[in-house]
Amino acid sequence: MSDRTLTLQVNGRPYTLEVPSGQTLLETLRESLELVGVRDSCGIGMCGTCTVLVDGRAISSCLTLTAQVENKHITTIEGLSQDGQLHPVQQAYIDHGAFQCAYCTPGFILSTVALLGENANPDDAAIREYLAGNLCRCGSYVNILNAVRACRTIDD
Ligand code: FES
Ligand code: FES
Repeated sequence: MSDRTLTLQVNGRPYTLEVPSGQTLLETLRESLELVGVRDSCGIGMCGTCTVLVDGRAISSCLTLTAQVENKHITTIEGLSQDGQLHPVQQAYIDHGAFQCAYCTPGFILSTVALLGENANPDDAAIREYLAGNLCRCGSYVNILNAVRACRTIDD
């Protein structure tokens, strides 16, 4: 496999890297940039633990080649907080105890951020549908739903 020199925009910073042509974004983020909040699990697009944002949209980094996202804006869980303040979605997950082992949590939080970017007031059905690609083996779904509800512009 030949390497290519790519420039990636990750969490607001540019990185120029030598990337093997078949390397996934998951591998690049974890192995080259040491952003291990991007979780590696199924590797086949079934669990959502590897979710990151690309230009604000949630994608599975295990199914995405790094070369496909050159010069796009990539956000991982490490890039959500600003000036030492947790993102409101991160805070809501803490406030609602929306995790146990937390392995799935970065992916859920980033999917929630993407959902709210598209729809500031999703109803419960819309939340469940949007987050259906994120799995939680600990079964924290009720608390996750409550955390997302709390982030809506109009809470009930
Ligand atoms: S590791 Fe990417 S969806 Fe499971
Ligand atoms: S909190 Fe453990 S997998 Fe979701």
